[in-house]
Amino acid sequence: MCGIAGYVGYKVATPFVLDCLQKLEYRGYDSAGIAFTQNDSLCRLRVLGGVDNLKRAVSQDVIDSSVMIGHTRWATHGRVSVENAHPQMSNHHDVAVVHNGIIENFDNLKAELQSTGVTFESQTDTEIIPNMIHNNLTGYTDTQILDALQKTTRRLQGSFALCVLVSKVDKIFATARFSPLLFVKSDYGFMVASDLGALPNGEKYKLLDDYFAVISKEGISFFDKDMQPVTLQKLDITNTQQDEGHLGFDSYMAKEVSQGGDAIRNTCKNLIESNALDIACTELFTHTFRIVITACGTALHAGRILGYMLQKECGIECVIDYASEFRYFPPHIDEETVCIFISQSGETADTLSCVEFAKTKQARTLGITNVPTSRLAGMVDYCILSSAGAERAVASTKVLMAQLAIIYMLVQKICKILNKSCEFSFKDILDCANKLDRLKSVSKLDKITRILQHKQSLFVLGRGLDYLTALEGALKIKEVSYIHCEALPLGELKHGSLALFNNDSYCIVLMTQKHLMAKTINNIHEITTRGAHVILITNMDVSVDVDYVIKIDCQDTLSPIPAIKVLQILALKLAKIKKIDVDKPRNLAKSVTVE
Ligand code: G6P
Repeated sequence: MCGIAGYVGYKVATPFVLDCLQKLEYRGYDSAGIAFTQNDSLCRLRVLGGVDNLKRAVSQDVIDSSVMIGHTRWATHGRVSVENAHPQMSNHHDVAVVHNGIIENFDNLKAELQSTGVTFESQTDTEIIPNMIHNNLTGYTDTQILDALQKTTRRLQGSFALCVLVSKVDKIFATARFSPLLFVKSDYGFMVASDLGALPNGEKYKLLDDYFAVISKEGISFFDKDMQPVTLQKLDITNTQQDEGHLGFDSYMAKEVSQGGDAIRNTCKNLIESNALDIACTELFTHTFRIVITACGTALHAGRILGYMLQKECGIECVIDYASEFRYFPPHIDEETVCIFISQSGETADTLSCVEFAKTKQARTLGITNVPTSRLAGMVDYCILSSAGAERAVASTKVLMAQLAIIYMLVQKICKILNKSCEFSFKDILDCANKLDRLKSVSKLDKITRILQHKQSLFVLGRGLDYLTALEGALKIKEVSYIHCEALPLGELKHGSLALFNNDSYCIVLMTQKHLMAKTINNIHEITTRGAHVILITNMDVSVDVDYVIKIDCQDTLSPIPAIKVLQILALKLAKIKKIDVDKPRNLAKSVTVE
C-alpha cells in the first residue's frame, strides 16, 4: 500500500527512481510524485494516475539531480488529488517526505502544529511529518537531521516507512516501523525501496523497526534505536522476487495465471529439497488439538481450503476467520493451539496483527508466504515459503496455486504423522499441476464472456469444497471485471437469494464432489426452474440440462486447483472485453499495509 523509492549516486537519479516506482505500482497507482535536490533547493513534481503519467511529466523538464525520492500512492487519508500526492513538504519547503503506512494519531499532532501557525494544504496524515521534522531541526549535519527525525517518529503512532530529503543536503534519511524498507548497494548507486523486487542487483539490506539509514554518494550508513552506528546483515537470499516483465502476455495477470502449474511444481520441488515442511509438521502437529487459520483476500480462501482438509482428512478442529475480524471474535487460543497465517506478501497489516495477538497467547505459529524477507516470515515460529516467483498483478493467482501446493503437501504430511490415510498422493498433486498447463484456453469461455459482460450481477455456487472454490472465483471476477459476483453455498439459495433469480440471472455452479452430486443436481433444477441460466464446471460425466458445461480433469479433493484456474481465466476474459486494466483494478492495492 503505497510504494516508496529513493536514489543517491553519481548518475542522474530519475530513471532509477521511476523504474523502481513502476515496479512498485501494484502497491498503489492513484497518483505519483518525486522530490529531488537541484541547485541547492528542494523541487517536487506530482501527478494524478500512475508512473507512466509521472514519466511523461518528467520528460517535460530537465532534471539532472542525483538525489531523489519518489512515491506511488494508494489513498488512505485524503481523496485522490495532486495536493494529497507525495512527496509532502513542510511549510518552509525545506523538508520533503514520502510515506508508506498510516499515522494513527495524526489528528492530534496536526492540531498541535496548527496551533503554532503551521498550515496544511493536503488532507493526508503524512503532511504533519515534514513539518514536525522542520520544527525539530537544529542544524544540517547528519546527527542533527537524524535527531530531528527520531524526535518526530517517537511521537508517531501507527506504521510507517519514511524517506526524507532536506534542502541543501544531498542525502536521503530513512526510517521505518512495521513497514518494509529495503536498501541496495549497486554498481549504479545506492537505493531504497518498499520491496526487494523493485531494487536492482547488489548487496541488499532490510531496515529493522525504528532503525535509521543515511544514504549518501559514499554509501549507506545504518543506525540503531539509540542512534549508534550498526552493521546490518546482508540479506542472504537469492532474489526470488525479480520482475520478469510480461513475457509476451498482454498483462502481468495473464502471465501469472498461465504460470500456475510452474508455481505448484517449483513449490513442491523446493519443499522436498528443503526440510522446512518436515520440521514444521513434526514440531507443530504431533500433539495438536486445535488449529486457528487467519488471512485476508485470496490467502484466506487458501486458508479455508486448508481448514476443510485438516478437518476432513486429519480430523483436527479448525477455526478459520478473516484477519480483519479475528480480534472481534477471538477464538480460544493457548499454548496448545497452532495458529496458521497465510499471506502472499507477508506484509498485510491485519494478518500481522493477528500474529502478534497469537503470540501474546503463547500459541505456536506457522506462516505461509511467498516473500522470504517479509515481516511475517520473521515473526512466526515456522515459515513455509511458496516458490511462485514475483507476483505483480493486484489479483493474486499463481501464488494461490503455490499456496494450494503447500496445503496439500502439509495435509499429506500431517496424515502421515497421525497415521491416517490421505485421499491424494504427491504424484496426484504434480499430475494436477501438469494438467493445469493444458487448460490454457477453455474455448467455451469466449462465448460465455460475451454473455456475462453485460450482467450487473453473477453468482458462483457450490457445496462443501466447491463452495470454497466459489468464494475465490467470485472474488477474482469482481475485483478485475467490476461485476458484482456473489459466492453462496448452494443449499443456502432457497433461504433468501433465490428471490433474486429470473430468466436474466446467470449462475456458475461447481460440481466436483461425487458424494454431493445428487444434491447439487437438485439445486441446479431449482435454479433453472426459475428461468435462470447455469454454467456448470465439473469433473464428472453427467447429463444435466444447463446452458454450458466446462469439463475439468481432476480427482475430487484436488478440484480447487483446476476449477479456480478456469475462474481466473474467465475473470481475465471479462476484464479484457470490458477494457479494464487487470493489473491495476480500481480502488485496490496488492500489499495492504494498513488495517
Ligand atoms: C489484497 C490483494 C489481494 C490479496 C490480499 C491479501 O487485498 O488485493 O490479492 O489476496 O490483499 O494479501 P496477502 O499479501 O496477505 O496475501
